[in-house]
Amino acid sequence: MNRLSTGIRKLDDMLEGGIPSGFFVALTGEPGTGKSITCQHFAWSGVLEEDKVIYVTTEESKESVLSQASQFGMDLRGAVEEGKAIVIDALLGGDKWSLSSLDPEDMVEKVLEAKRELGYGRGRLIIDSLSAFWLDKPAMARKYSYYIKKVFHKWDLTIMVTSQYAITTSEAFGFGVEHVADGIIRFRRSVRGGVLRRYLMVEKMRQTNHDLRMYLIKIVPNKGIELEGPVSFTREDLALPYGVTERIIRSKIKKERETP
Ligand SMILES: Nc1ncnc2c1ncn2[C@@H]1O[C@H](COP(=O)(O)OP(=O)(O)O)[C@@H](O)[C@H]1O
Ligand SMILES: [Mg+2]
Repeated sequence: MNRLSTGIRKLDDMLEGGIPSGFFVALTGEPGTGKSITCQHFAWSGVLEEDKVIYVTTEESKESVLSQASQFGMDLRGAVEEGKAIVIDALLGGDKWSLSSLDPEDMVEKVLEAKRELGYGRGRLIIDSLSAFWLDKPAMARKYSYYIKKVFHKWDLTIMVTSQYAITTSEAFGFGVEHVADGIIRFRRSVRGGVLRRYLMVEKMRQTNHDLRMYLIKIVPNKGIELEGPVSFTREDLALPYGVTERIIRSKIKKERETP
C-alpha cells in the first residue's frame, strides 16, 4: 500500500509507515495540543516528497502559519514562493488565495483552483480547521464532512483536517468528522504536577494495524513535534477539577429542562 509520511517519524511508525494515499484523516482535540503543528509537518513532508501541497487556514493567518513552521525548521514560505505549495487564508487574506467567507462550497472551489495551478500529480490537502466551516451550525458537521470527502476523492489528494474540541467539556463542536474520516488522531492535554502535558493517540486508521497506545507530545524548538512513549495515562489525568465538572453537569441539566 502507498503511504504518505506524516513528517513525524514516530507517528509514521505507529501507522505502519504513514497515512494511506487518498485517505481523509481528522486530528481532533482541545486547543494548544499540537494539531496545527502536526498539519505543518504533514505539509512540509509533502514538499519534501514533491507532492502538491494545499493548506487552508481558518484560525490563523497565512503569515502566522508560515512563521510558526519556520520556527521548527520547515521552509513552507520558500515552498510557497517556489510554487510548490499554496496557502488559502480564510482569516486575513489579501491575495487571490484568500477566502471571503466560511462557505464550504467557496472553499472547495478555491482548493480545486489551487490544485490546477500547482499542476498534475499527487497532492496533500490540509484544512485547519474544518470545524470552522460549521461553527454557527454544528448540525451540518456530518453533511459537510461527507461532501468535502466526496468532492476531493477523484483529485488524488490525501486530506488532513482538524476539528476543535471545547476546553471545558472535551465535546466536539458538532460530531460528524469522526464518522466520515478514514482515520482519527486524538490529541489530549492534562496537567500533572502543575505541568501541562500533551498526548496523542491513533484512534482509528482504516486498513492499518496501528499502534493502540498513547504517546507524549514534545514540541521542540527548531524541530517541531517529537513523540515519547508509549505512556500510561490515568483517569486523574483526564478529569477536570471536581467543581468544574459539577458546574458543567448542573448547567446541562438546567438547559435540558428549559428546552421544550
Ligand atoms: N517555538 C515553539 N517552541 C516550543 N513550543 C511551541 C513553539 N511554538 C508553539 N509552541 C507550543 O505549541 C502550542 C500550539 O500548538 P498548535 O499546534 O498551534 O495547537 P492546536 O492547533 O492544537 O491549537 C503552543 O501553545 C505552545 O505550547
Ligand atoms: Mg490550531
